[in-house]
Amino acid sequence: MTDANEGSDVSRRDYLKAAGAGTIGVTGLAGCMGGGGDGESTTTAGDTTTEGGDSGGDTTTEGDSSSNYNTLEVQHWWTGGDGAKAVQALFEGFKQKYPEIEVNQNPVSGGAGQNLKTVIKKRVLNNNPPSSWQAWPGKNLQPYVRANKLKDIGESVWSANGMKDAYLQGPKDAAKPGGKFVTVPINIHRLNNLFYNVEVVEQAGVDPSSISKPSDLVAAMKTVEEKTDAVGMAHQTKSAWSTGQLWAQVLLGEHGEETYTAFTEGKVEANKAAIKDSLQIVKDYKNHFNSDAGSITWTEANKNIINGKAAFFHQGDWAAGMYRGQDGFEFGTHWDQVPFPGTEGVYALNMDSFPFPKNNPSPEATKKFLQYCGSVDAQKRFNPKKGSIPPRTDVPKDNFGPFLSRQMDDFANSDAQVPSIQHGLAIPPEPLNGFGDAMSTFTSSWNVDKTYKQLKQAFN
Ligand code: GAL
Repeated sequence: MTDANEGSDVSRRDYLKAAGAGTIGVTGLAGCMGGGGDGESTTTAGDTTTEGGDSGGDTTTEGDSSSNYNTLEVQHWWTGGDGAKAVQALFEGFKQKYPEIEVNQNPVSGGAGQNLKTVIKKRVLNNNPPSSWQAWPGKNLQPYVRANKLKDIGESVWSANGMKDAYLQGPKDAAKPGGKFVTVPINIHRLNNLFYNVEVVEQAGVDPSSISKPSDLVAAMKTVEEKTDAVGMAHQTKSAWSTGQLWAQVLLGEHGEETYTAFTEGKVEANKAAIKDSLQIVKDYKNHFNSDAGSITWTEANKNIINGKAAFFHQGDWAAGMYRGQDGFEFGTHWDQVPFPGTEGVYALNMDSFPFPKNNPSPEATKKFLQYCGSVDAQKRFNPKKGSIPPRTDVPKDNFGPFLSRQMDDFANSDAQVPSIQHGLAIPPEPLNGFGDAMSTFTSSWNVDKTYKQLKQAFN
């Protein structure tokens, strides 16, 4: 399951060490955490002092003093093309500001957190969390909030750096999954993108901006395959998340925002026709995928765009982070993007954030780190390399280049910002698990009826 392309530098030992740390079954997490009771021990092994002055009223372990910080351990999955350079730039900036804080990045590779999420659940349940970790905000964090595992950082972190004024409402809401600030979003990724190789579509005589709905993309891909040596669409199905994400854009583009939102509210049966139709459209796309889709990662799939072996690619705009790092592959000349057909004016949002867990092994260092993540300096360093835009509205556009500047304008001018399904901003972890299972069924059987039934079950 570990994704070699996305993280050959990750120590498997670290992963096993962390994954093996738990004594409670992972699948039982939601159940264990759902009761709203605390149940958390107030101390961790070898550290029995409680922190003073904690407005959250929790019993976070010992506070490190400003002159003597405990090591800051931050886990994330950015180990390759999807963010290694960005996270490195972030920590370089942090190191410059706080040279005295020792940092232990402890990454766990696997696109979209496919491995890290399991590690974190176990560690948090065992009251042995890292200082912070990469987490999608919003509903994704609800079980942790309900189980009282996250600290209220409305004062300690969000009052710094003018954050409360500089963040837009959407990201602020996502940072408060239970009504209180518990995490700091560092970026905004757009999901409703259709990337393309300019030379391939020109050779095929296809104009991507003229494709007005997802079902029309099928004909465009047929034309590409008739007129060029490229396949219609680069894609990976080794792990189901990219297809879950693709399906959500098809639902949004073909059937509109209301249907999309209704799905996130669990109104599956009432939207049966739209849901099945959008599954069928994705199934039609499948005939135009690269033939090795089942055995590669998304970064490998994206290389087909860079090499001119595919015309189109759907991904979050982290895909553009990869183009940016590629010499001689220029925006406008070699690659470009349109909003996924049928979704113009919508900004489908995904965000990454860093929460503050209770029982924090390094409370002072974590506070400094999260304050830093919320600053202009951090967001200016991190986002251009990540291929995302800053959640702060006062970050200068200078370093962002033409593509991300256009995304920033699109965001500012968007009529609607819908939260991501696949990334758990719009649906909590339990139905999200069911959604993931349904998409695994889909990518292995391509059976629309069976997948629909599983989608329905996901919300039961
Ligand atoms: C998303 C994450 C992005 C990127 C992507 C691919 O969930 O928000 O930052 O890492 O996964 O792995």
